[in-house]
Amino acid sequence: MTTDLEQLRSDLLASIDAAAGLDAVEALRVHALGKQGAITGLLKTLGGMSPEERQEQGPRIHGLREAVTAALAERKTSLERLALDARLAAETLDMTLPVDSVPAGSVHPVSQVMDELAEIFADLGFAVATGPEIEDDWHNFTALNIPESHPARAMHDTFYFPPEADGTQKHLLRTHTSPVQIRTMVKDKPPIRIIAPGRVYRSDSDATHTPMFHQIEGLVIDKGITLGHLKWTLETFLKAFFERDDIVLRLRPSYFPFTEPSAEVDVGYSVVNGKRVIGGSEGWMEVLGSGMVHPKVIAACGLDPNEWQGFAFGTGVDRLAMLKYGMDDLRAFFDGDLRWLRHYGFSALDVPTLSGGVGA
Ligand code: DAH
Repeated sequence: MTTDLEQLRSDLLASIDAAAGLDAVEALRVHALGKQGAITGLLKTLGGMSPEERQEQGPRIHGLREAVTAALAERKTSLERLALDARLAAETLDMTLPVDSVPAGSVHPVSQVMDELAEIFADLGFAVATGPEIEDDWHNFTALNIPESHPARAMHDTFYFPPEADGTQKHLLRTHTSPVQIRTMVKDKPPIRIIAPGRVYRSDSDATHTPMFHQIEGLVIDKGITLGHLKWTLETFLKAFFERDDIVLRLRPSYFPFTEPSAEVDVGYSVVNGKRVIGGSEGWMEVLGSGMVHPKVIAACGLDPNEWQGFAFGTGVDRLAMLKYGMDDLRAFFDGDLRWLRHYGFSALDVPTLSGGVGA
């Protein structure tokens, strides 16, 4: 019996040690410890032994079972480690190799332009601010000096949410990024220098209008801010954005309820091979709305307009992208047509062209 046990132990341990794979380990476990297993069989014999015999054989058989169980676990662990090492070795990528296929995805021109704008304005000390796309009437209109009966409300083709229980129409899809001006002035202490890019919504659709489009808002609130600061900022921004020094601006008196005085900004273009190219002054294209923040707007946000002044501007991001990259149908921006995206999209590995700094 003793020699049998010793023999069994050394046979089993040798086989476990030699097991080539996890399947072999499992087969050996069943062979030794399964229902019909050799060790299970030995354990069953304990019941038929005399107490003296059992006292002698019990510890031996249990010891054998423990040794075999431990050896199985150990072999399993080491096989698993070997398998992992092999996988890691097989899946190693040499990151220093050049990419031999172009990544399939591309960056949408709107995202690219938003990144470029953030880069340019970050260089000028502007932070990026955001606000909700579902706005309330106060932030979208009232605080911006567009009271209930104001005709500008009708001009915005607003998407309203169903009226509240009390009959008031509180919520709407923001029609411009200007409410972020309000949210920022209410929340932060001046001096303030922010841009707010984002989606806006109007019930309008043709070749130059889509129900959802993108705007970027700019706001500066400080002491002693003048129209001169506004003009310099816009000029610096447009030169950096279009990557040209021959950008000519024309500030045309205009009207926005939230600015006084207000100006629409035109940028000069030249005609090259029958196509309009930004730069020069053969003709003018409107690119921005702007002005000095209306004292009523500053006061609505709880600031003293005698102490704080500022300027604001707003423009369409999609329109800027069209002008810079020569696209002519706004609707194509939102069609998700892969051919268009491949043609106009940017490589995912591209960083904004201006990350070297304004004018770089
Ligand atoms: N919110 C205006 C619009 O959607 C654009 C605009 C004009 C924004 C003048 C401004 C501004 O901040 O000063 O048409």
